[in-house]
Amino acid sequence: MQKKKTQIWPATDLTRHRKYLVQAAHILQNGGLVAFATETVYGVGANALDENAVADIFRAKGRPQDNPLIVHISDLQALSDLTREIPLVAKQLAEQFWPGPLTLVLPRSDRISDTVSAGLPTVAVRMPSHPVALELIRLAGVPIAAPSANRSGGPSPTTAQHCIDDLQGRVDVILDSGPCTVGLESTVINLTETPPRLLRPGAVTPEQLQDLVGAINVDESVYKMVEMANSPASPGVKHKHYTPKARVSLVHGDFAAYRQFMQEQAQGDAFGLVFDGEEEKLPVPCISYGKEEDPLSQAERLFSALRELDAVGAKNVYVRAPQAQGVGLAVYNRLVRAAAFTEIFLQ
Ligand code: TXA
Ligand code: MG
Repeated sequence: MQKKKTQIWPATDLTRHRKYLVQAAHILQNGGLVAFATETVYGVGANALDENAVADIFRAKGRPQDNPLIVHISDLQALSDLTREIPLVAKQLAEQFWPGPLTLVLPRSDRISDTVSAGLPTVAVRMPSHPVALELIRLAGVPIAAPSANRSGGPSPTTAQHCIDDLQGRVDVILDSGPCTVGLESTVINLTETPPRLLRPGAVTPEQLQDLVGAINVDESVYKMVEMANSPASPGVKHKHYTPKARVSLVHGDFAAYRQFMQEQAQGDAFGLVFDGEEEKLPVPCISYGKEEDPLSQAERLFSALRELDAVGAKNVYVRAPQAQGVGLAVYNRLVRAAAFTEIFLQ
């Protein structure tokens, strides 16, 4: 891929930084790539209706062609343009959770190319709530295809610096809007089957979805490793994900059992990924990723923590497992992938 000169522009204030948003929107209209913040993680966007621009996203990320992209919109009219039909559940979910961290998979209209949808008959659509993302899409005047702005396989970026580390020289612009508040990618739900199927857990929880639309199925890939050959419902799940360079194991059990276990590991190259305040009580170097009782804080910190582990050269990381409930299910889902499904159950 030809090296690009990447501009890094501030975008924390819609009024003060308006000229940068206008220029970035112009670049999107002309087939360029712009990394921008959403409330979940940073995305790398292109005009979803421009197949060449979309193909550039795959090149910039090193993303496998068979993994479709989420299309981001800033108004509901765009949803009608991109989909063939909008079932009642989609209307209910959009009304309740948009703009916000929920992605709806629906039958695609012929405006969506095979490049965006990876040849599937469906399209994934989301209206983000981050004011910069909404304004950028509005100014561009086109739907924006945007995967997370990381190199494929690594942890998603939650700061502009993460985008710079991964995509400098590969995108035209990185808009710096500071850290993302949610920290994990959106919940993805497939509405083309009944009951709907949760494909990826996120900040919108299964309980919240069920309260609104009744029973949903949770795809087995949310908890388990799915065979490559199984053709999973969400193609993304079969690819390598969130993996730092270190070998990661997810350790279940209370803190006393974990501390005991880490005492046994202390002679080697063990590193801990633990909850806030536990670092000083352990015999190995540690990084923390949020409060034990607060999955939102874990979500916000997790991807930064995974990148910090690489930065300090951790080789062998043992993670305190989160409670896999509510938003914690999303935290668990990302961690168990980072660990390539290596789980240790103490007691
Ligand atoms: O929060 C997010 O969703 C972020 C921000 C930037 O919006 N985006 C994001 O995109 O996480 P990406 O490409 O990293 O993840 C998209 C996921 C993948 O697992 C992909 O397989 C799935 O959504 N997906 C996309 N289109 C799909 C479709 N038509 N059917 C099933 N799964 C789909
Ligand atoms: Mg991603």
